[in-house]
Amino acid sequence: MKKKILLSLLALVTLFTITGCGTKEESKNKSNSNKEAKKNSNSVVLYFSATGTTKSIAERIASKSGSDIIEIIPKEKYKSEDLNYNSDCRANREQNDSKARPEIENSIDISKYDTVYLGYPIWWGTNPKIILTLLDTYDFTGKNIIPFCTSGSTGISGSVSDLRNYNSNLNIKDGKRFSADASDDDINEFINNY
Ligand SMILES: Cc1cc2nc3c(=O)[nH]c(=O)nc-3n(C[C@H](O)[C@H](O)[C@H](O)COP(=O)(O)O)c2cc1C
Repeated sequence: MKKKILLSLLALVTLFTITGCGTKEESKNKSNSNKEAKKNSNSVVLYFSATGTTKSIAERIASKSGSDIIEIIPKEKYKSEDLNYNSDCRANREQNDSKARPEIENSIDISKYDTVYLGYPIWWGTNPKIILTLLDTYDFTGKNIIPFCTSGSTGISGSVSDLRNYNSNLNIKDGKRFSADASDDDINEFINNY
């Protein structure tokens, strides 16, 4: 009888080990790796980038959050002379023209996403006008909009107020500005905050 009890106990211990009723540390590691690998089918990173800085941050956010990624492609690409802000360049003219709505080349399907990470560079303290074209063209009502930007030094808050004023029906979070050399921790913190 004693032997039977002993054998049953042994079997139980073996079962726990095999089925992974592991330590706290093990399950913590498991949940961390799940977080990183998780494919988040409800979210998309939607971004405009004229010279690649925002694009690189967008790709890192998409890969770490498991989101899809879609670029907002201008019909007329911005050449370097269009971005020379010390001159009367195209970007400056657009930013100074309240009616400017640069056309978007690609068609963008946001219908299946609840969360949209919206990325752009800061131009003269705010979002490039193509972001307004985006908001005019597609219905973002009810979606969780999480803005992010890159810039030389300007923060994101001016552009966020402008976007909220532009369409007060939208749910636009405070978002975050990234420098070109943002660390993985910066990206992770941003994703985990929302
Ligand atoms: C027309 C124009 C205006 C800009 N205005 C600002 C600004 O107000 N504040 C700032 O910190 N950076 C400003 N920048 C710098 C860009 O925000 C920065 O280089 C950004 O990272 C570029 O992103 P991209 O490579 O994705 O286009 C401006 C750049 C351009 C072309």
